[in-house]
Parts: sequence; C-alpha cells; structure tokens
Amino acid sequence: MAGHLRLLLILCQLTGIYSISKVSVKAGDSITIPCPYQSRYTNRVKYLCKGYFWESCSFAVKTNKPDRSGKFSISDDKNEGIFTVTIKSLTATDTDYWCNVEINHGADHGEYFQLVVTGKPSLYVDRQEIKGYIGDDLAIRCYHGSSGKMQWCTLGRNCVTGPRGKIDGKEVTINSTIPHVSTVTMSKVTRQSSGWYLCVQGDLQMPVHVTVTERPVIMTSTPLFTSGSGDGETAQHSSVLLMSLIIPLSLLIVVVMVTLFIFLMLKKQRTRNSQSPNMATSSCGSDGDVLYSSVLIKTKPQKDEAKGQVKAQDEHLTYSTLKNSHS
Ligand SMILES: *[C@@H]1O[C@H](CO)[C@@H](O)[C@H](O)[C@H]1NC(C)=O
Repeated sequence: MAGHLRLLLILCQLTGIYSISKVSVKAGDSITIPCPYQSRYTNRVKYLCKGYFWESCSFAVKTNKPDRSGKFSISDDKNEGIFTVTIKSLTATDTDYWCNVEINHGADHGEYFQLVVTGKPSLYVDRQEIKGYIGDDLAIRCYHGSSGKMQWCTLGRNCVTGPRGKIDGKEVTINSTIPHVSTVTMSKVTRQSSGWYLCVQGDLQMPVHVTVTERPVIMTSTPLFTSGSGDGETAQHSSVLLMSLIIPLSLLIVVVMVTLFIFLMLKKQRTRNSQSPNMATSSCGSDGDVLYSSVLIKTKPQKDEAKGQVKAQDEHLTYSTLKNSHS
C-alpha cells in the first residue's frame, strides 16, 4: 500500500484521534510516540520503520531487536494495546516514520507519522510523562504557536474542545487565558485516568502519558514538624527534614563525645606525668596490641654558687614505640 493512501486513511480517522500523524519537535530533543494496535496483533513483533514510503522504509528498532546505537527504543504494553517508540537526538532527517506490526506471510500493518523538527516547535509540553495520585487534579500545560483552539484528547476515544468537558465521566477544563498556553486540568483523577492523551491543534498532536497511582501512606513519628493540615506532602517533607536533622546531630554528638574522651585522657596523662617526673612510664594495651612508652628525665635545678644564679636544666625525652603483636 502506498504511503499517500495510508496518509489519506489516517486523515479520515482524524475525527477521533486513533493514532499520531504529525508532531512538532525541537531539534536535539527526544520524543516518545505511542502506536496503538488492534488486539489481534498483541503477540506480533512491533517495529519502528524509517522512511516516507512504506514499501521502502527501513526498520530502526524492533521489539525483538534492540537498537545498538541507542537512538531508538521501543516497548510494548500488551494490556493497553499500545507500543511506544522513543527517538533521541532529533535531527532534520528524522521526519518520516511508520509504526509497524510484523505479519508473517503477508504485508506488515503500518501507521505513518511525521515529525517536524525545528528550532522552535509549534505545539509542545514541558514533559511527556505526568505522574499523579488518585484524587489529584492534574494540570498539563500545552504551548502552541498559533492562537487557535486547542483540544485535549484521549488516544482513540474522545476530545474536549471547549473550556469545559468530560473524558470518561471525569471533568476536564482548558484554561486559555494566557496566549499560546493552554492549561488542561484533569479533575480528581482515578487509576483509570492513566494512559495516553494528546494536545491537539490544527494537524499537530503532542502525546502526553499520564500515570495515576495510589497515594503512598506516610508514617510520621513526630508531630513536632508537621504543620496544621496533615497534608501528605507536608508530612513527607517534614519526615525528610527530620531525617536530614537527625543524621548530622548524631554525628555531632559522637564527635563531641570522642573529643571529650581524648581531652580527659590527655589531661589524666599530663597529671600522671607531673606527679612522677623522674619515672619512666609505660603502659600496655590490655591485649598487647599496642605498646606506648615514654621516658621523662627531669634534673633538679642546680645552684651555681659562684655566680649566685639558678640554672634550670630540663631534659625531656619521649620514646614511643608502636608495636603490633600480630605481625
Ligand atoms: C485561568 O488561568 C488564569 C491565569 O493562570 C487565572 O487567573 C484564571 O482564574 C483561570 N480561569 C479559570 C476559569 O480557572
């Protein structure tokens, strides 16, 4: 089947968006494209094919054959019936691709999409992956070059056009107060809200993947740092804050204790030395690992009778030996 015919087929499907057809991307960035497929293809090999014509396109990456260069990657979500392809380091040559399904003994099934690689994309988002918890309101900003109406669509189901609408019974608002920026808010998301969505303007789409998970339970042992509402995020912050305080505090205590111990030991040794100035002292470690010995010789002041002067002579000798008994 010729590429033109495919394109026509896809254009006919545009009433509800069932596949990606044209995406504006920034040169150097990477893009992830979802490729939906019919359930009868679940166990087939999926692949990304590069080239304008379906007959002459060359495979870039397959689900059973990773791309060694690292530019292309692919993953197949068999439960959703969608495989995703990621293309990194986009250049002007990354324009024409096909999401293909390998059919043994027959023509492979394919959906064409086009990438428009520019310095300034016409329709883009901050990130393609949005994560949230059940019950949250998720906000997604879609930036668009022209001031026309922007739509928020699910991949394969329905679209919200107006400032208010519903997707799968859940309220969606599109706030376009700021020119060229439409903020989509998905209210009180559920686990079923997870999946692929699209910002749509004109013939351009920008896919966004939403993942909604259960809010994690956070155990707080100290109400000292939690402020008021007991909000999950605040509690998480305070437990992190607490942990960041405990670690340096306990370290400080250890340092102070060790310093105090060393100080006391030194003081003890000094008083012992001053008490017995002429005696050689030696101490042995209890297990004989280390031997310290110090010799202090202190001669008494000598009086020079002839000159009537007092001459003090101190000889302070210290011998230290470190001996390892196991060596
Ligand atoms: C839309 O967004 C603007 C700016 O962020 C805000 O001032 C305004 O109240 C919002 N409108 C609605 C209907 O939420």
